[in-house]
Amino acid sequence: MSSKKVKNSDKSTAEKTTNNGDSFLDQTLRPTKWEEYIGQKHIKDNVKILLRAAEERGHIPEHILFYGPPGLGKTTLAHLIAKETGKQIKITSGPAIEKVGDLASVLTNLSPGDILFIDEIHRLNKMVEEILYPAMESGVLDIIIGKGPSARTIQLDLPPFTLIAATTRVALVSSPLRSRFSGGVFRLEFYSNEEIAEIVKRSSKLLKVKLENEALKEIAQRSRFTPRTANYFLKRCRDYAQVHKKTLDQETVKGALDMLSVDGMGLNSGDRRFLETLIEKFNGRAVGLKTISAALSEEETTIEEVVEPYLIQLGLLERTARGRVATKKAYEHLGFSDKIKKPASSSQGGQNNLL
Ligand SMILES: Nc1ncnc2c1ncn2[C@@H]1O[C@H](COP(=O)(O)OP(=O)(O)OP(=O)(O)O)[C@@H](O)[C@H]1O
Ligand SMILES: [Mg+2]
Repeated sequence: MSSKKVKNSDKSTAEKTTNNGDSFLDQTLRPTKWEEYIGQKHIKDNVKILLRAAEERGHIPEHILFYGPPGLGKTTLAHLIAKETGKQIKITSGPAIEKVGDLASVLTNLSPGDILFIDEIHRLNKMVEEILYPAMESGVLDIIIGKGPSARTIQLDLPPFTLIAATTRVALVSSPLRSRFSGGVFRLEFYSNEEIAEIVKRSSKLLKVKLENEALKEIAQRSRFTPRTANYFLKRCRDYAQVHKKTLDQETVKGALDMLSVDGMGLNSGDRRFLETLIEKFNGRAVGLKTISAALSEEETTIEEVVEPYLIQLGLLERTARGRVATKKAYEHLGFSDKIKKPASSSQGGQNNLL
């Protein structure tokens, strides 16, 4: 069972070549040295100190939790730590550990000093989580044998290990679990366009793609401050250039990304539909989440967690007490400049009506 629930980091070549999706791209382009891991200076500085101090004291590093939106480099960090410390990494995830027995088998199969990486840790169930507490704190496993009055607990000593966990939903990680990450809880930040450009440059070298400087900037600008998106776009642009027999210059990048419906600010068709609905259907009034969700036939959580954060970050959307409002910048970006005056007066009207 443990072989199904846990995997070692080194994939066989066969596995790599048969997997041609995003995960393959993630693996090939994953930085393997600290210097190659761009940005996130705060995290790098702290983690490096933590690892160094542990090494100097002859201890294993303490448990670490990384959180933040998808594609920002959480899994990459876990692999990097394993590489830099020369430790073996065992990988599993919250949903893969269904039962207490699954976790017990994962933990007892670790070798001393191993790193255990649990992805999507917010999806661990409560029973499993409670077994993890003493394992993290005191390195023991409490197992209950039998049922009813004759049940007894036995305690097994575990090999010393470092738990590195990752989640996109830190609010769903219970506070007792969070507080047991004694090495630190770190939030990954979005990347600047310059950092993304640096990442794309490195990836283009690994993929043996010749990329002009302006093309590099164009990809960075549309990548939603996210390395995974940038790498994905790079690959799509390479395909486009290859098929159209073009060099990878700014025009080619524009052509390729326009074809993917990704505009100059990195908005996709869903993002634009969201803003256009606010502007056109609701005439620029503040709109509640329930209403916009019904209008778009999109789940509220998808809107709140997937669509809106990027729009807010770009200053295209505001969440006000009365609801969502597209900003002036959104009107301009989508070519509704002539309507800019209208929403201001109509939203005032809306307010008066409410009063
Ligand atoms: N700081 C970085 N420098 C260079 N490349 C990076 C960096 N962060 C991420 N990447 C690239 O982005 C890809 C995605 O990163 P990763 O898989 O670590 O994201 P994640 O945060 O684990 O996402 P998810 O939440 O979806 O699991 C990696 O394969 C790597 O190539
Ligand atoms: Mg990951």
